[in-house]
Amino acid sequence: MKIYLIGYMGCGKSTLGRKLANKLNIPFVDMDHYIEERNYKTVPQIFAEDGEEAFRLKEQKALHELSEFTNVVIATGGGAPCFFDNMELMNKSGKTIYLNIDPKILAYRLMHSKTERPLIKGKSKEELISFIDETLKKRNEFYSQAQYEVTEPDLPVEEILEIIQ
Ligand code: S3P
Repeated sequence: MKIYLIGYMGCGKSTLGRKLANKLNIPFVDMDHYIEERNYKTVPQIFAEDGEEAFRLKEQKALHELSEFTNVVIATGGGAPCFFDNMELMNKSGKTIYLNIDPKILAYRLMHSKTERPLIKGKSKEELISFIDETLKKRNEFYSQAQYEVTEPDLPVEEILEIIQ
């Protein structure tokens, strides 16, 4: 069983991923942390020092490595499905679940999050809302290729497992 959780920043991929992995008794991998460990740099450092393009290449490499794992729940970075053939690779190598959460909830969570996210750093509430709207329009083309979709922010893991099993 390999599960990829995909969706916008703040949609709850890591929180749900941990719960799912716990329930299934298999490891959980947060892709951003995986990239940070392999590069000895944080994601914000990679963006600042090497640029977004370099980050996307590292992300693609990480995904290829992780796609070889069996029995794992992977929380992908919000942009991961939208570059290269990443979405196709995920769909071929595991089950993909899109956490399609209301943009208003995303904006609220991102405003209150302590995680540093280079793409939205320093944005006001209004700027953040229009940034989410704009990028979601483009990203939905990729997110919607997921095999399963969850729209309820706090759907119990048991129900999610029922949907995908
Ligand atoms: C990004 C999302 C982040 C991280 C990077 C870029 C994006 O991951 O990979 O900051 O392009 O949406 P989270 O979705 O875990 O915040």
